[in-house]
Amino acid sequence: MTVESEGDLKSLMRIGQIVGETVRIMAEALRPGITTKELDEIGAAYLKKHHARSAPILTYKYPGYTCISINDEAAHGVPGSRVVKAGDLVNIDVSAELDGYFADTGASFPVPPITPEAEFLCDCTQMALDAALDVVSDGQRMNVIGRAVESIASKAGLHIIRDLGGHGIGRGLHETPRNVPNYYTNRAKERLVDGMVMTIEPFLTYGSGRIFTAKDGWTLKTSDGQLAAQYEHTIVITKGKPILVTAV
Ligand code: CO
Ligand code: CO
Repeated sequence: MTVESEGDLKSLMRIGQIVGETVRIMAEALRPGITTKELDEIGAAYLKKHHARSAPILTYKYPGYTCISINDEAAHGVPGSRVVKAGDLVNIDVSAELDGYFADTGASFPVPPITPEAEFLCDCTQMALDAALDVVSDGQRMNVIGRAVESIASKAGLHIIRDLGGHGIGRGLHETPRNVPNYYTNRAKERLVDGMVMTIEPFLTYGSGRIFTAKDGWTLKTSDGQLAAQYEHTIVITKGKPILVTAV
Protein backbone atom coordinates (compact mmCIF):
# COMPACT_ATOMS: atom_id res chain seq x y z
CA MET A 1 0.00 0.00 0.00
CA THR A 2 0.92 3.62 -0.17
CA VAL A 3 0.40 5.74 2.94
CA GLU A 4 -2.02 8.48 1.95
CA SER A 5 -3.05 10.01 5.27
CA GLU A 6 -2.03 10.52 8.87
CA GLY A 7 -4.65 7.91 9.70
CA ASP A 8 -2.96 5.34 7.45
CA LEU A 9 0.39 5.97 9.10
CA LYS A 10 -1.06 5.86 12.61
CA SER A 11 -2.83 2.54 11.99
CA LEU A 12 0.24 1.05 10.36
CA MET A 13 2.47 2.18 13.23
CA ARG A 14 0.05 0.68 15.75
CA ILE A 15 0.26 -2.83 14.26
CA GLY A 16 3.98 -2.33 13.56
CA GLN A 17 4.66 -1.70 17.23
CA ILE A 18 2.56 -4.69 18.25
CA VAL A 19 4.48 -7.14 16.03
CA GLY A 20 7.79 -5.58 17.05
CA GLU A 21 6.91 -6.03 20.72
CA THR A 22 5.74 -9.58 20.07
CA VAL A 23 9.14 -10.55 18.68
CA ARG A 24 10.85 -8.82 21.62
CA ILE A 25 8.74 -10.62 24.21
CA MET A 26 9.18 -14.01 22.53
CA ALA A 27 12.95 -13.44 22.36
CA GLU A 28 12.98 -12.65 26.08
CA ALA A 29 11.34 -16.01 26.76
CA LEU A 30 13.78 -17.87 24.54
CA ARG A 31 15.85 -20.35 26.57
CA PRO A 32 17.02 -23.96 26.32
CA GLY A 33 14.15 -26.32 27.18
CA ILE A 34 11.28 -24.21 25.87
CA THR A 35 9.35 -25.67 22.94
CA THR A 36 8.60 -23.65 19.83
CA LYS A 37 4.89 -24.19 20.59
CA GLU A 38 5.31 -22.57 24.01
CA LEU A 39 7.12 -19.63 22.41
CA ASP A 40 4.35 -19.33 19.82
CA GLU A 41 1.73 -19.25 22.58
CA ILE A 42 3.55 -16.35 24.23
CA GLY A 43 3.39 -14.48 20.93
CA ALA A 44 -0.24 -15.46 20.36
CA ALA A 45 -1.25 -14.18 23.81
CA TYR A 46 0.41 -10.81 23.19
CA LEU A 47 -1.27 -10.44 19.79
CA LYS A 48 -4.64 -11.37 21.27
CA LYS A 49 -4.27 -8.92 24.15
CA HIS A 50 -3.82 -6.16 21.56
CA HIS A 51 -6.68 -7.41 19.34
CA ALA A 52 -4.26 -8.21 16.52
CA ARG A 53 -4.71 -11.29 14.34
CA SER A 54 -1.90 -13.50 13.09
CA ALA A 55 -1.35 -12.62 9.42
CA PRO A 56 -0.12 -16.06 8.29
CA ILE A 57 -3.22 -17.70 9.79
CA LEU A 58 -5.48 -15.06 8.25
CA THR A 59 -3.77 -15.18 4.86
CA TYR A 60 -2.54 -18.75 4.41
CA LYS A 61 -4.23 -20.82 7.16
CA TYR A 62 -0.70 -21.34 8.48
CA PRO A 63 -0.56 -23.84 11.39
CA GLY A 64 0.88 -21.42 13.98
CA TYR A 65 0.54 -17.81 15.14
CA THR A 66 4.18 -16.99 14.42
CA CYS A 67 7.06 -18.52 12.45
CA ILE A 68 9.94 -19.99 14.46
CA SER A 69 12.85 -21.31 12.41
CA ILE A 70 15.88 -22.99 13.97
CA ASN A 71 19.44 -23.33 12.59
CA ASP A 72 19.17 -24.61 8.99
CA GLU A 73 15.50 -23.58 8.83
CA ALA A 74 15.52 -20.29 6.95
CA ALA A 75 11.85 -19.35 7.26
CA HIS A 76 8.26 -20.41 8.00
CA GLY A 77 9.28 -22.90 10.70
CA VAL A 78 6.06 -24.31 12.19
CA PRO A 79 5.77 -24.12 16.02
CA GLY A 80 5.47 -27.52 17.65
CA SER A 81 7.08 -29.93 20.08
CA ARG A 82 10.65 -29.09 19.04
CA VAL A 83 12.72 -28.14 22.08
CA VAL A 84 15.12 -25.18 21.87
CA LYS A 85 18.68 -26.23 22.72
CA ALA A 86 21.70 -24.31 24.01
CA GLY A 87 23.66 -22.99 21.02
CA ASP A 88 20.66 -22.94 18.64
CA LEU A 89 20.09 -20.04 16.28
CA VAL A 90 16.39 -19.18 16.45
CA ASN A 91 14.58 -16.91 14.01
CA ILE A 92 11.29 -15.40 15.17
CA ASP A 93 9.11 -13.82 12.50
CA VAL A 94 5.81 -12.20 13.40
CA SER A 95 3.25 -10.62 11.09
CA ALA A 96 -0.23 -9.55 12.11
CA GLU A 97 -3.26 -7.45 11.24
CA LEU A 98 -5.18 -4.82 13.17
CA ASP A 99 -8.08 -2.75 11.76
CA GLY A 100 -7.21 -3.88 8.23
CA TYR A 101 -3.51 -2.94 8.42
CA PHE A 102 -0.63 -5.43 8.32
CA ALA A 103 2.99 -5.34 9.52
CA ASP A 104 5.76 -7.95 9.46
CA THR A 105 9.06 -8.18 11.34
CA GLY A 106 11.62 -10.82 12.18
CA ALA A 107 15.02 -11.37 13.76
CA SER A 108 17.44 -14.18 14.52
CA PHE A 109 18.55 -14.84 18.10
CA PRO A 110 21.48 -17.06 19.07
CA VAL A 111 20.82 -19.04 22.27
CA PRO A 112 23.88 -19.09 24.58
CA PRO A 113 26.51 -20.40 24.48
CA ILE A 114 26.72 -18.37 21.27
CA THR A 115 29.01 -19.90 18.67
CA PRO A 116 31.30 -17.52 16.74
CA GLU A 117 29.63 -18.78 13.54
CA ALA A 118 26.14 -17.79 14.70
CA GLU A 119 27.35 -14.44 16.00
CA PHE A 120 29.14 -13.54 12.77
CA LEU A 121 26.19 -14.59 10.62
CA CYS A 122 23.76 -12.55 12.75
CA ASP A 123 26.03 -9.48 12.78
CA CYS A 124 26.43 -9.58 9.00
CA THR A 125 22.73 -10.12 8.30
CA GLN A 126 21.80 -7.25 10.62
CA MET A 127 24.42 -5.11 8.83
CA ALA A 128 22.90 -6.07 5.48
CA LEU A 129 19.45 -4.90 6.64
CA ASP A 130 20.94 -1.66 8.00
CA ALA A 131 22.85 -1.06 4.76
CA ALA A 132 19.65 -1.50 2.75
CA LEU A 133 17.70 0.81 5.09
CA ASP A 134 20.42 3.43 4.54
CA VAL A 135 19.95 3.60 0.76
CA VAL A 136 16.18 3.45 0.26
CA SER A 137 14.32 6.68 -0.43
CA ASP A 138 11.82 8.21 -2.84
CA GLY A 139 13.12 8.05 -6.42
CA GLN A 140 15.71 5.30 -5.88
CA ARG A 141 15.34 2.08 -7.81
CA MET A 142 14.29 -1.01 -5.87
CA ASN A 143 17.55 -2.77 -6.76
CA VAL A 144 19.56 -0.47 -4.45
CA ILE A 145 18.37 -2.88 -1.74
CA GLY A 146 19.87 -5.93 -3.42
CA ARG A 147 23.07 -4.08 -4.17
CA ALA A 148 23.47 -3.05 -0.50
CA VAL A 149 22.79 -6.58 0.79
CA GLU A 150 25.09 -8.12 -1.79
CA SER A 151 27.99 -5.87 -0.89
CA ILE A 152 27.80 -6.85 2.80
CA ALA A 153 27.37 -10.55 2.01
CA SER A 154 30.24 -10.73 -0.43
CA LYS A 155 32.65 -8.89 1.88
CA ALA A 156 31.75 -11.38 4.62
CA GLY A 157 32.03 -14.43 2.36
CA LEU A 158 28.39 -15.28 3.00
CA HIS A 159 25.66 -16.20 0.54
CA ILE A 160 22.22 -14.75 -0.04
CA ILE A 161 19.14 -16.98 -0.06
CA ARG A 162 17.90 -15.61 -3.36
CA ASP A 163 14.50 -17.29 -3.27
CA LEU A 164 13.49 -15.20 -0.26
CA GLY A 165 13.02 -11.45 -0.30
CA GLY A 166 11.05 -8.47 0.89
CA HIS A 167 7.56 -7.57 -0.31
CA GLY A 168 4.94 -4.90 -0.40
CA ILE A 169 2.63 -4.93 2.64
CA GLY A 170 -0.02 -2.79 4.31
CA ARG A 171 -3.61 -3.78 3.56
CA GLY A 172 -2.49 -7.40 3.10
CA LEU A 173 0.54 -9.44 4.17
CA HIS A 174 1.98 -9.79 0.68
CA GLU A 175 1.22 -7.01 -1.80
CA THR A 176 2.96 -5.55 -4.84
CA PRO A 177 5.89 -5.42 -5.23
CA ARG A 178 5.60 -9.20 -4.74
CA ASN A 179 9.35 -9.67 -4.47
CA VAL A 180 12.03 -7.27 -3.29
CA PRO A 181 15.24 -9.12 -4.20
CA ASN A 182 18.17 -9.25 -1.80
CA TYR A 183 20.58 -9.38 -4.75
CA TYR A 184 21.24 -6.91 -7.53
CA THR A 185 19.14 -7.40 -10.64
CA ASN A 186 18.17 -5.18 -13.53
CA ARG A 187 14.64 -6.48 -13.27
CA ALA A 188 14.11 -4.71 -9.93
CA LYS A 189 14.33 -1.30 -11.55
CA GLU A 190 11.00 0.16 -10.43
CA ARG A 191 11.24 3.39 -8.48
CA LEU A 192 10.53 3.56 -4.78
CA VAL A 193 8.00 6.29 -4.03
CA ASP A 194 7.16 8.43 -1.03
CA GLY A 195 4.62 6.61 1.17
CA MET A 196 5.29 3.13 -0.24
CA VAL A 197 5.04 0.42 2.44
CA MET A 198 7.28 -2.61 2.12
CA THR A 199 9.47 -5.02 4.02
CA ILE A 200 13.21 -5.41 3.73
CA GLU A 201 14.40 -8.83 4.89
CA PRO A 202 17.81 -10.15 3.90
CA PHE A 203 18.49 -13.86 4.47
CA LEU A 204 22.16 -14.87 4.66
CA THR A 205 23.83 -18.25 5.06
CA TYR A 206 27.22 -19.96 5.06
CA GLY A 207 26.04 -22.40 2.41
CA SER A 208 25.02 -22.19 -1.22
CA GLY A 209 21.82 -20.28 -0.44
CA ARG A 210 19.60 -22.93 -1.98
CA ILE A 211 16.50 -23.94 -0.03
CA PHE A 212 13.77 -26.55 -0.15
CA THR A 213 10.36 -27.05 1.47
CA ALA A 214 10.40 -29.60 4.31
CA LYS A 215 7.94 -32.48 4.59
CA ASP A 216 5.56 -30.42 6.73
CA GLY A 217 4.82 -28.40 3.59
CA TRP A 218 5.78 -25.07 5.21
CA THR A 219 9.29 -24.96 6.66
CA LEU A 220 11.96 -23.71 4.25
CA LYS A 221 15.37 -25.28 4.96
CA THR A 222 18.79 -24.74 3.47
CA SER A 223 19.60 -27.58 1.05
CA ASP A 224 23.06 -28.10 2.53
CA GLY A 225 21.99 -27.90 6.19
CA GLN A 226 23.91 -24.68 6.79
CA LEU A 227 22.84 -21.98 9.28
CA ALA A 228 20.61 -19.19 8.01
CA ALA A 229 19.73 -15.81 9.54
CA GLN A 230 17.17 -13.13 8.72
CA TYR A 231 16.33 -9.64 9.96
CA GLU A 232 13.20 -7.87 8.77
CA HIS A 233 11.47 -4.55 9.18
CA THR A 234 8.32 -3.10 7.69
CA ILE A 235 9.13 0.40 6.46
CA VAL A 236 7.55 3.44 4.80
CA ILE A 237 9.58 5.07 2.03
CA THR A 238 10.02 8.84 2.40
CA LYS A 239 12.12 11.54 0.71
CA GLY A 240 14.66 11.02 3.49
CA LYS A 241 15.31 8.09 5.84
CA PRO A 242 12.59 5.43 5.82
CA ILE A 243 10.11 5.21 8.70
CA LEU A 244 10.80 1.97 10.61
CA VAL A 245 7.27 0.80 11.34
CA THR A 246 8.31 -2.28 13.34
CA ALA A 247 11.33 -0.96 15.28
CA VAL A 248 10.73 -1.09 19.06
CO1 CO B 1 8.29 -11.82 8.18
CO1 CO C 1 8.05 -10.59 5.24
